[in-house]
Amino acid sequence: MATSWVNSAERIGSDLHLELTGPGGRRAALIRALREAVRSGRLAPGTRLPPYRSLAADLGVARNTVADAYAELVAEGWLTARQGSGTRVAERAEPLRSAARVPRKAPARARGPRHDLTQGTPDTSSFPRTAWLASYRRALQQAPNEVFGPGDPAGRTELREALTEYLARARGVRTEPGRIVICSGFAHALRLLFGGGVLRGPLAVEAYGLGFHREVLAAAGVRTVPLPLDEHGARVDRLGRERAVLLTPAHQFPTGGPLHPARRAAVIDWARARGGLVLEDDYDGEFRYDRKPVGAVQGLDPEHVIHIGSVSKSLSPAVRLGWMVLPERYVDTVLAVKGDREAWASVLDQLSLADFVVSGAYDRHVRRMRQRYRGRRDRLLAALAEHAPHIEATGIAAGLHAVLRLPPGTEASTVKAAAWQGIALDGLAAFRHPDTDTAVGDGLVVGYATPSEHAYGPALEALCRALPPP
Ligand SMILES: Cc1ncc(COP(=O)(O)O)c(C=O)c1O
Repeated sequence: MATSWVNSAERIGSDLHLELTGPGGRRAALIRALREAVRSGRLAPGTRLPPYRSLAADLGVARNTVADAYAELVAEGWLTARQGSGTRVAERAEPLRSAARVPRKAPARARGPRHDLTQGTPDTSSFPRTAWLASYRRALQQAPNEVFGPGDPAGRTELREALTEYLARARGVRTEPGRIVICSGFAHALRLLFGGGVLRGPLAVEAYGLGFHREVLAAAGVRTVPLPLDEHGARVDRLGRERAVLLTPAHQFPTGGPLHPARRAAVIDWARARGGLVLEDDYDGEFRYDRKPVGAVQGLDPEHVIHIGSVSKSLSPAVRLGWMVLPERYVDTVLAVKGDREAWASVLDQLSLADFVVSGAYDRHVRRMRQRYRGRRDRLLAALAEHAPHIEATGIAAGLHAVLRLPPGTEASTVKAAAWQGIALDGLAAFRHPDTDTAVGDGLVVGYATPSEHAYGPALEALCRALPPP
């Protein structure tokens, strides 16, 4: 049996793996292998096959064996041979259509919403393509060869060093590179921490939050206990026997306010007194407009807080890079859960992000986006002032979404009215923990980052048409 990779890139465009196996000698085996390559589509119609001599050399067979095999396949109609253009796969040789290859008819789609005002996605048209490419190029050029081997599960030192400096400067996080573990985003951090058995429930969570995160926790067997919310944020005075609490202190998701300074101090007191842990979801901490920046709670006590961030809001959720800033005692356990090598976060993307941060491109991008989102927010407020002055917007000092407060009992009908206007968005009820008896009132959660610039005006007009009258 002979197995070979035909490496005649100028002809077949890429390596072709041929296995000469089975009965009947080399010639028969080569015929079968070539027929199979055509049938399966690995050799596309029109592809020029290597000359006898080079294929013979690659496979370690006689030149005549190849010539005979080609002749046989020409006679069968699989190949064509023409003077001057060599031997090619016949145009009508139909490759086997596996289920995956059959071109599928696009399913008839119901007309989707025309205006996307759901929260969650940044302005995808503003991804800093040029600056990211420059960082990627620099990172690739400067990378030592070992970068292309298996990655360190802690993440690249370059990125952990860059984040140490950035998070200290921009978010008031106190740490060092050895306490940062790179992951592929906030949800991944939850999976590692709870699914991997680093932490156990019950976990206190805010009464309103992302259902998706509650599902991740439930899948890891973690019971979540809702903490009521009021105008100062989560009622951390209600914490009891839970081992940990998950909070969005800089900008409560989705209601939008910062956790009151007294509550920030109180939750740290609770963690110290009970040996508890605060999980800080800093999902959009960079985006604040007309209030003083709220630093990370982690800065108050790095040994009782796991600070988790990602680039999902600041850059793009497609990049899939995030970080956990850990108390020292958790570092080894988290690394053990990650395994021997990095299996989630591309090392090349890590290096690009490191360059992006160190070169100042990240700060520039965040500043530019802050202005853009502030502009978006101001247009929303102006539209409300003009067309629906009776509707109050809250949670507007930061982030990429606002909450439009609605008269009691009108949320569901307003979401429906919005759908009639072609708008996709959620009401506050969509974020409510199923076990909570707290209600924060009726409201629409309006994400203002997603629509493209030209679509935003019409989206706001449609939104105002959907709002209940005074
Ligand atoms: C409340 C909240 N936390 C965290 C994240 C970040 O999630 P991830 O890093 O998994 O994309 C988001 C979305 O960007 C969010 O809305």
